[in-house]
Amino acid sequence: MNKLEVKRAGNAAEFSYDIIWEEGFEKLTEAIRSRKLAKGKICIISDSTVAELYLENLKEALQGLDTTITSFVFPAGEASKNLDTVKAAYSHLIEAHFERKDLLIALGGGVVGDLTGFTAATYLRGIDFIQVPTTLLAQVDSSVGGKTGVDFDSYKNMVGAFLQPRLVYMNMQTLHTLPDSQFASGMGEVLKTGLLQDAKFYGWTINHMDAIEERISPVLVKMVQKCCSIKAAIVEEDPKEHGVRALLNLGHTVGHAVEKLKNFELLHGQCVALGTIAAAYISFRRGMLTDEEFYEIRDMNVGFGLPITVDGLKSEDILQATKSDKKMEQGSIRFVLLDGIGHAVVSHEVTDAELLDGINCINGDLYDEN
Ligand code: NAD
Ligand code: GLY
Repeated sequence: MNKLEVKRAGNAAEFSYDIIWEEGFEKLTEAIRSRKLAKGKICIISDSTVAELYLENLKEALQGLDTTITSFVFPAGEASKNLDTVKAAYSHLIEAHFERKDLLIALGGGVVGDLTGFTAATYLRGIDFIQVPTTLLAQVDSSVGGKTGVDFDSYKNMVGAFLQPRLVYMNMQTLHTLPDSQFASGMGEVLKTGLLQDAKFYGWTINHMDAIEERISPVLVKMVQKCCSIKAAIVEEDPKEHGVRALLNLGHTVGHAVEKLKNFELLHGQCVALGTIAAAYISFRRGMLTDEEFYEIRDMNVGFGLPITVDGLKSEDILQATKSDKKMEQGSIRFVLLDGIGHAVVSHEVTDAELLDGINCINGDLYDEN
């Protein structure tokens, strides 16, 4: 498989686009042309780190399209994922006379993808965009599914829109320049994906730990494709998160709280991995996971270079921060638990005491005190 179609037909929320896996940027021109996506100008949106590495390569690869190509580059990092950067992107597009028929390309990780998608969703009430994800996290999760948005003050993804990309094009070679910590962050979402839906894939991931950590290309391609097919099926069923899509938020309630309190000093996937341990602990205490399963979930983080505790935060503060997450519904938290490995379920009845228990389990300061 080097292509997967993400498709929903026959109602107002219909969409159809391909995810393509390649080992370079060269095939993107044909992919754009054959889908008739190059109707006008193109703006590549990227961050400073990715632009330095790949912007010229991509521009060169797109020369065959014979259209005006501009670029908008912002400083790398979560701190740029805000409305100020979106405003600067709008200014660039207005000054370059971008119209509704024109196209944006997100070249980068989840920050670039979320911000470009939101710009596309709102500029002139919506223009097309393509995802070209260059981090593991973006390839296995954020580039697929059409959630776009930015942070507001320190609130994660508080302002956003749903807009599916017209194409997701992955140059798998880009993973070879990714720093280890960013690769590990992507693994946080990979482990989450197996845990929530597919025990066999979760086991496969563990069995291929060495090859994954050595970034052996065919193994990475297989892993990314599996994550995308799991996510695509969920998004096709429930694009706007009225039901099953909520399962993709495994680890995110506590994860987002830690991310916020740590002022984005920890990476998104690291926080999701911590949040997944907390969720697994609550599940274990409810008898939904065995102790072996809980300890395996926790200890796999170590194998993949992910944290199992966070220092410098009070459990009570983490608990309070979960209350401002978007996953609240009529005052109660929509919390994702594990009813066995590979089977996530949503609960509205997780109490504060249970949450605190789960949070204490990842609070490194409590271990240091003993
Ligand atoms: P990121 O976009 O900040 O990228 C991480 C870092 O890696 C950046 O410094 C970037 O410049 C650098 N980088 C990117 N590609 C590189 C490469 N190939 N080689 C070297 N360096 C490279 O972070 P991320 O982890 O990709 O994404 C995290 C964001 O994604 C968060 O904001 C999170 O909220 C969001 N997210 C969104 C969804 C969604 O469904 N929309 C899902 C999960 C996460
Ligand atoms: N990352 C969660 C989602 O896409 O729904």
